[in-house]
Amino acid sequence: MKSYYVRTFGCQMNKHDSERIAGLLEASGYRAAQTIETADVIVFNTCCVRETADDRLYGQVSSLKALKTGGRPDVLIAVGGCVGQRDGDTVLTQVPHVDVVFGTHNIHELPALLDAAEAGRPAVSILAEGDAFASDLPQQREKPWHAWVSITVGCDNHCAYCIVPTVRGAERSRSMDDVVAEVAALVADGVREVTLLGQNVNSYGRDRYGASRFPELLHAVAATGITRIRFATSHPKDLSDDTIAALAELPAMMPYLHLPVQHGSNRILAAMNRTYTREQYFQRVEAVRAAVPGIALSTDIIVGFPGETEEDFADTLDLVERVAFDHAFTFIYSPREGTPAARLPETVSRPVAQERFDRLANLVRDLSYAANQAEVGSVRACLVEGASRRDERVLAARTPHNRLVHISVPHGATAASLAGSIVPVRITGAHPWFLSGELIDPGPGESAHSG
Ligand code: 5AD
Ligand code: SF4
Repeated sequence: MKSYYVRTFGCQMNKHDSERIAGLLEASGYRAAQTIETADVIVFNTCCVRETADDRLYGQVSSLKALKTGGRPDVLIAVGGCVGQRDGDTVLTQVPHVDVVFGTHNIHELPALLDAAEAGRPAVSILAEGDAFASDLPQQREKPWHAWVSITVGCDNHCAYCIVPTVRGAERSRSMDDVVAEVAALVADGVREVTLLGQNVNSYGRDRYGASRFPELLHAVAATGITRIRFATSHPKDLSDDTIAALAELPAMMPYLHLPVQHGSNRILAAMNRTYTREQYFQRVEAVRAAVPGIALSTDIIVGFPGETEEDFADTLDLVERVAFDHAFTFIYSPREGTPAARLPETVSRPVAQERFDRLANLVRDLSYAANQAEVGSVRACLVEGASRRDERVLAARTPHNRLVHISVPHGATAASLAGSIVPVRITGAHPWFLSGELIDPGPGESAHSG
């Protein structure tokens, strides 16, 4: 039996695609390798949204050459996902020891491409578009109790900096029946939490049904009896009152929303083609907080977009402080060839961008720390993910607000035995990026698995 190893870069969509790549390979008779060095087939599922992931990929693929020249010439290396889609057969000129290149629309072709490569020819296949959803392929879930469920792929927005519409194509929605049937099957399989995925979930259904049916989809997914529902990502311009109402009404909806703002200055928001103002963003945040008091909010922010002045950047700091995000993912702008912004003169030097980034990161850390401190003393129903990364005796779990909690493994239990259960936890301590907590004994007659 041949073995495989999948290395994933980038977003949740890619993590989901990787689960399906693993599922496909298992269904084709491969088994998982323990390490990249011992695998017969190495698959890179790639991201080109920002320069960093792109560079790291080419670095890592290049370094695998030694594996092939050092005694394992038969190892097959496949590069797929967004870089495959973007670069096509030029991947082979940049890193000639690659055997297979595939894109974002043809994951299902991977086993056949590997067969072709084994027969001695580099196999490259990229489709310009497709309507395949990774969720329709065989699955090999990373965690038995959690599942990603794609509801849309692609994006119809054209944010000036973003390569996603180029590599993932126009937005296509899956049918509501397919989504609901998948979630129902997952519930029957023991899944506790689903994350509905799309580049802009709020516009779900527009291409298929003529108008967004995202709130309706949330109701239908909740009706399957799934315990916890999350979704990502939301574009602020499309976050409707009905979606906010669904967040408030449905007990399975977790009180957490990722709402990328990208910038705090109206001038830069316009240049980014985000189509909302900071005032409109504040208004959405107010509506969400009024409907779901205490909801946790996170965001994405870009620093150093072309034309960003110190004043514009001050607007970003001001917006972040006013909204008081629970968390923010922060990025230094990198031009992506083929996007409208790549044609703009780069006006912000690297050191200036870095200095602004550091100031923003400090603010984000302070806000996150403050939000975590406010949690101390509360009791939260936490979904146990397993052992923490560093210590087998420490559990990692998620609060409904998506905060990470570290908890000592109780006597007589193991992290593995508790993984996937929902347990009451008292929050006892706060750190900038995580909480400490202790399990509350559910008492006689109550199961730790009730949630
Ligand atoms: N440069 C920097 N950050 C970017 N993002 C997308 N494109 C770029 C780019 N060219 C960020 C956005 C997006 C997140 C996934 O990545 O903040 O929300
Ligand atoms: Fe990119 Fe904008 Fe679409 Fe998000 S909404 S994927 S940032 S184009």
